Amino acid sequence: MTETLVFESTFDSFADWKAALSGLVPDLAMARTDEVEDPASVRYAMVWKPRPGFFARFANLSWVVNLGAGVDGLLGSGDLPELPISRLSDPHMSRMMAAYVTFAVLRHARDIPHFERAQRAGRWSPIRPRETHAIKVGVLGLGELGGLAAEELARLGFDVRGWSRSKKDIPAVACHWGDEGLEQVLRDSHILVVMLPLTPLTKGLLDHARLSLLPAGAAFINASRGHVVVEEDLIGLLRSGHIAEATLDVFEAEPLPLQSPLWSMENVLITPHIASVPLPGSAAPSIAQNIARLRAGLPPLHQVSADRGY
Ligand code: NDP
Ligand code: OXD
Repeated sequence: MTETLVFESTFDSFADWKAALSGLVPDLAMARTDEVEDPASVRYAMVWKPRPGFFARFANLSWVVNLGAGVDGLLGSGDLPELPISRLSDPHMSRMMAAYVTFAVLRHARDIPHFERAQRAGRWSPIRPRETHAIKVGVLGLGELGGLAAEELARLGFDVRGWSRSKKDIPAVACHWGDEGLEQVLRDSHILVVMLPLTPLTKGLLDHARLSLLPAGAAFINASRGHVVVEEDLIGLLRSGHIAEATLDVFEAEPLPLQSPLWSMENVLITPHIASVPLPGSAAPSIAQNIARLRAGLPPLHQVSADRGY
């Protein structure tokens, strides 16, 4: 029987993924959820935030691939079966994130928000640039995306430190881990970059007390998940000026509700969860590789742990 891969996403293009995968796995049928004719033939699922009850129809599934790096949305699905789950793993996706993070860090390091405000007011308002190596940048989360971002920032000459669960070794990055490590990184970051997955341990991690450890006047960048930060506490610290500026790509509620005070804050740049996106052309080979592994009786690569949450 021809195996089918079911595609479930309201965000990603089925046509693009089908075009990217069909040349690599020519004997695989692909169908959107509503177009699957024989649910018993479905062996693989590519999903991004699957609708409630999605999995119940596909009793012969053997593997689920999340159409993104963060699996918090998927692991929250009530009917998720106990199957191997892989995340997207794609160096081009990591590079796109590293580009967003370096853009945001450089924007703060070179005082661009100040110049944007000055321009709007018709003011010539020079600030003497700081030397790059004197600017301390902290990156929380040193995984596939966060690790590359930290490495790129170090390559640009920033004084970079990072934090993860386990010990890491990244060229020119001072790597910390564990609870004390977090405190040290926070105290030592003129610019803080959040690249942590959303898990039971990271939810609400950055609250008023922890964010207050940042030096006065710090800049804050969140490109991973809104719920890692207590948004109300962040807003309070942005209002008081303890956190001087923020670049935010992710929020507790998305789309960011119209009534959020963040929209009108002069010291906040909002982007709508676009820091990095799945790229069918470059990610399809690893999906094809995993299908080949499953067919050969091998475990798929890039698996996430449902217990750990990432
Ligand atoms: P990974 O899963 O590869 O890495 C996660 C990192 O966070 C690891 O270094 C891990 O530590 C660390 N970590 C996890 N939990 C803890 C904890 N409790 N304490 C300390 N460190 C912890 O993720 P990626 O780097 O690939 O991506 C990060 C996140 O970015 C994704 O989960 C997703 O939410 C978000 N994302 C956002 C996008 C956007 O457009 N805004 C696009 C793509 C992803 P260790 O290495 O020790 O396991
Ligand atoms: C992801 C995302 O996790 O796009 O991949 O947020």
